[in-house]
Amino acid sequence: SNHSSLKRWGKQAFVSTFPKRDTYSHKGSHGKGAVIGGQRTMPGSVTLTASAALKSGAGLLTIATVEDNIPIIASKCTEAMYQVLEDRDGVITKNHTDLFKAFDGLAIGMGMGRDEVTANFSQKLIQALDMPMVIDADGLHHLKPILNTVSERNHPIIITPHFGEMAMLTGYTIDEMKRKPFSIAKEFADQYQLYVVLKGKFTIITSPYGDQIVNDTGNAGLAKGGTGDVLSGILLAMIMQNQSTMAALGNACYIHGLSAEMRVKSGENTEIDLLASDVIDGLSNVFRTLS
Ligand code: APR
Ligand code: MG
Repeated sequence: SNHSSLKRWGKQAFVSTFPKRDTYSHKGSHGKGAVIGGQRTMPGSVTLTASAALKSGAGLLTIATVEDNIPIIASKCTEAMYQVLEDRDGVITKNHTDLFKAFDGLAIGMGMGRDEVTANFSQKLIQALDMPMVIDADGLHHLKPILNTVSERNHPIIITPHFGEMAMLTGYTIDEMKRKPFSIAKEFADQYQLYVVLKGKFTIITSPYGDQIVNDTGNAGLAKGGTGDVLSGILLAMIMQNQSTMAALGNACYIHGLSAEMRVKSGENTEIDLLASDVIDGLSNVFRTLS
């Protein structure tokens, strides 16, 4: 296949595209985001996403989740605000999509669960709101049946599948995906007019117009539950902070992997004990190094 327009995202790209914080900026200048997910058995998922978004510079962050999760999350993530999602036995049932109208960006699906009522709510939400949104994890399962309805929007949809989720979305096998990830991602992004962040050892970012970027930061310490939730939060923060969408996605993947690398190189973690929350803590050193 033709990789002529392929770019490797690196330090130079980050430094030249990541906006400096204006001295006079206020929290509204950096985006008001919402993280929607976390059924009762998975309070950690949205906690990681929200904390990562805040640590990546988002101005204001609301977590929409089931009521029982809120005290648990609030004990870990002091800065977030909350929106209670209706539930039945901890399974997300529904909520008014209007509640999410006033945000600058959404991240949907982390730890959300795949119950049919949850799927219905997610689908209504995605269809009712034309705003930048990151769709991950269970949200990808909810998106699949309505893919044909999302191509004509003013704001980007960013999907963040790992190879298994991409196979589920496209119908290709994981073996086929491994053989031609670039062309499969490009075909899908073009067909449904969305941005694809295909995650793995190398992460391939594809725009609906066929541009592709590869990120090669990261290490095997990231092969652990929760690191994908962290990436969703960094992505949400980046798309709300005045970069082109491709730069925002490239920058997010770059610093996510770089944080994991720096935690190990500095001796703070090994690849064995690196946890998703360590990746969030490491962002501080990453931003210091890159500024
Ligand atoms: N090298 C570099 N980066 C890696 C590596 C590696 N060897 N392994 C994983 N990563 C990165 C990926 O690029 C991605 O950014 O870590 C992140 C992992 O994201 P996910 O696969 O979404 O993982 P996560 O969701 O946190 O946890 C796995 O997701 O879909 C569910 O069923 C799945 O329960 C499982 C959970
Ligand atoms: Mg995941």
